[in-house]
Amino acid sequence: MQIGRACGLVQAALCNKAVGLLVVLFMLIGGVYGCQSMAVKMTDAQQLYSAKCSSCHNLIAPHEYDKAAWQAYIDKYGDKMTDHSKLKLLEYLGGSED
Ligand code: HEC
Repeated sequence: MQIGRACGLVQAALCNKAVGLLVVLFMLIGGVYGCQSMAVKMTDAQQLYSAKCSSCHNLIAPHEYDKAAWQAYIDKYGDKMTDHSKLKLLEYLGGSED
């Protein structure tokens, strides 16, 4: 009985540690994947921008215009783009802080 209970406690302690390690591991993995998907989103918008807006002139840096101006330019030149793509592009171009 005594030994059995002690073993159970040791097992529980080991188990908790393992669970703790797993949680830490998942948080690390989650963090890395979170960053990656953000990076992919950026690249998506940039690809969209270069695909849709670089055929007639060079790409203009996002900080050159504010969001309202980009909205107007996207409306003017993005007539063949879906609403979803326009929104994505506007978020990228108009979201620049500098
Ligand atoms: C069919 C050709 C064409 C495409 C495609 C095009 N543009 Fe243009 N863009 C022009 C022309 C021509 C001008 C210059 C005349 C003007 O200002 O409207 C211009 C000018 C601009 C300007 C002003 C540049 C300046 O120096 O003042 C911006 C900003 C701009 N375009 C953004 C975009 C964006 C964003 C896209 C993609 C959604 C895009 N353009 C796609 C033809 C195009």
